[in-house]
Amino acid sequence: MEVAVAAARAAGHFIMEYWNREIEIEYKGEVDLVSHVDRGAEELILGHLRASFPDDCIIGEEGGEIVNESSRIWFVDPLDGTTNFAHGVPHFCVSIGLVIAGEASLGVVYEPTRDFLFVGDIDYGASLNGRPLHVSKTETLDRSLIATGFPYDRRTNPDNNMDRAGHIIRHCQGLRRAGAAALDLAYVSAGWLDGYWEDKLHPWDVAAGVALVSAAGGRVSDFHGQAINVSDGRCVATNGLIHPELLTHVQAGSHH
Ligand code: IPD
Ligand code: CA
Ligand code: CA
Repeated sequence: MEVAVAAARAAGHFIMEYWNREIEIEYKGEVDLVSHVDRGAEELILGHLRASFPDDCIIGEEGGEIVNESSRIWFVDPLDGTTNFAHGVPHFCVSIGLVIAGEASLGVVYEPTRDFLFVGDIDYGASLNGRPLHVSKTETLDRSLIATGFPYDRRTNPDNNMDRAGHIIRHCQGLRRAGAAALDLAYVSAGWLDGYWEDKLHPWDVAAGVALVSAAGGRVSDFHGQAINVSDGRCVATNGLIHPELLTHVQAGSHH
């Protein structure tokens, strides 16, 4: 936890040196962008992790990786919410998750613009800047604030979460597409959001957030209520109370 926190803070400070300044953007796909800030932050984080855990497997979004047979895998998203960052919108974070034997066990999500440090350990609970966190107590979807996101292939692939979102927005109190999956999950752990779902995610988007939600007493599953594998791409995370109801609507919205 200490190592991941130090790495996340270092990367956050590095990112803030470039925030709201003109930076050079490259395109990975039609709308999927990346910059030297994403890459620089990843290098910083991997340096910290490698130095302390030379035997662990480490996978970063921007290609930095050490792949081995270890049952401990670090998933690193050096800059989640990169589209926000590139436009100057102050909603992005650093996300570092540790999966042990398939279970998201530790999550550190650092939001540098607000100096919010979310830490979740499935054995010790979750905290924000050292203060314990717990998921919300909202009991119905009708009263819930929900978040989601849309995949980078949304312009060309009809399987783009639009129908599901169109369905669910009619059944909840509000629906947000804030643009950083790791923060969506961190905000569920803080009780600020009651639930979140998304499809076509990568393990570095969710590993830390899944650990956070679990550590804060919430529930995380795939779209059918089964235990989540962070590499599956599908995630439903809630305060637990609204989980069955959100699952029902995620499934109903998938058939439209
Ligand atoms: C993206 C964000 C976004 C989510 C996408 C992710 P990136 O990550 O988390 O909210 O909808 O699925 O790929 O590209 O900003 O690291
Ligand atoms: Ca991401
Ligand atoms: Ca990213």
